[in-house]
Amino acid sequence: MLDHESAVKDRYSKGAQAREETLCCAVSFDKSLLDHIPQEIIERDYGCGDPSRFVRPGDTVLDLGSGGGKICYIAAKLAGPTGQVIGVDWNDDMLDLAVRHRKAVAEKLGYANVEFKKGKIQDLTLDYSLVEEFLAGEPLKSLDDLQRFDAVCAKLRADRPLIPSNSIDLVVSNCVLNLVKPEDKAKLFAEIFRVLKPGGRAAISDIVSDEDVPARMANDPELWSGCISGAFREDRFLLAFENAGFGGITLDKRDERPWQVVEGIEFRAATVVALKPPAFANKELNQAAIYRGPWKQVMADDGTVLRRGMRMAVGSRTFATLSHQPYENDVVGLEPLDPIDQQMAFPFEAQANALRNPKQSKCGPADHDCCDHDHGPSAGKCC
Ligand SMILES: C[S@@+](CC[C@H](N)C(=O)[O-])C[C@H]1O[C@@H](n2cnc3c(N)ncnc32)[C@H](O)[C@@H]1O
Repeated sequence: MLDHESAVKDRYSKGAQAREETLCCAVSFDKSLLDHIPQEIIERDYGCGDPSRFVRPGDTVLDLGSGGGKICYIAAKLAGPTGQVIGVDWNDDMLDLAVRHRKAVAEKLGYANVEFKKGKIQDLTLDYSLVEEFLAGEPLKSLDDLQRFDAVCAKLRADRPLIPSNSIDLVVSNCVLNLVKPEDKAKLFAEIFRVLKPGGRAAISDIVSDEDVPARMANDPELWSGCISGAFREDRFLLAFENAGFGGITLDKRDERPWQVVEGIEFRAATVVALKPPAFANKELNQAAIYRGPWKQVMADDGTVLRRGMRMAVGSRTFATLSHQPYENDVVGLEPLDPIDQQMAFPFEAQANALRNPKQSKCGPADHDCCDHDHGPSAGKCC
């Protein structure tokens, strides 16, 4: 049986020391976002997409499997001095490559907002640097030592987690999730969900396959560590986000041409974006949403069905979700003329997919400043 983790560690230690052509997948970047990054990092890029496109000023960004740090350093520029970027990798050679340019990058940017941490991306509670510190002082020699070690790790996870829960605005990753061993993949998505703030976003570029990968290929260390045989089947990639509790899951980019074709199976780069839903209760505030079309109807992740052109009753959490990307251009949000005090509001219990009576979500008379209540793209445009 393949030792997935050793195969991956060996391959990327070599890849940190010299550029490995077979691991590279051509991606074009905006050159103005690279001018502060040393050539050594730029050329040891083993990504397959550009999830940094989703970074906003002020974001706290987490890059899973940060490698040489290229995406982290691009994100540092996009997030700006009020933002923060954290790269996590478990490979010392990759971490060395990323960290040794930190000062030079900070000098060029005029601020330092990037740090790199050692850990396993499917277990973002355990800080490997702290574990190594402990082991250096107390190496394991017996089963009793092992038991004590387990207790120390449990304490580190609880008291000094590598990445605390609900602390990140945007999780990015570039060509790494496929490398996580099969039995840990669901845990990996649960970890991405845990560390994101409610309303936070994930933007993940990875390699996907168009068909199931046979066991023979999955056990080949070259194909596994080369980002091929651990690829998600493309439909299962999106489903993994859904199973972890994400909403607004969107196939943002899917390369038309495959990166590799092995035994007739096409492996191509794809980028998926997703949202962690807001954490507040779904209350009855007499709000409504009208879906613009063009589909006859659509279903939100919480099961709400929006029928084209109909004034559907929605709860406050659904309304808030639909008022932002990726939904806001497709939906007109209608607030009631007489707002309901949030504290006094009842839980939203309208019959599934009920229509809102226009009396409950009127904007008011024609001379009322109707535009203030419109949360769609027409907001502020009065006739
Ligand atoms: C294909 S490279 C991509 C590196 C980087 N994202 C880029 O765009 O160049 C995969 C990286 O993920 C790291 N990696 C793989 N599996 C990991 C895991 N389970 N936990 C932490 N890092 C991991 C490797 O050490 C390597 O640096």
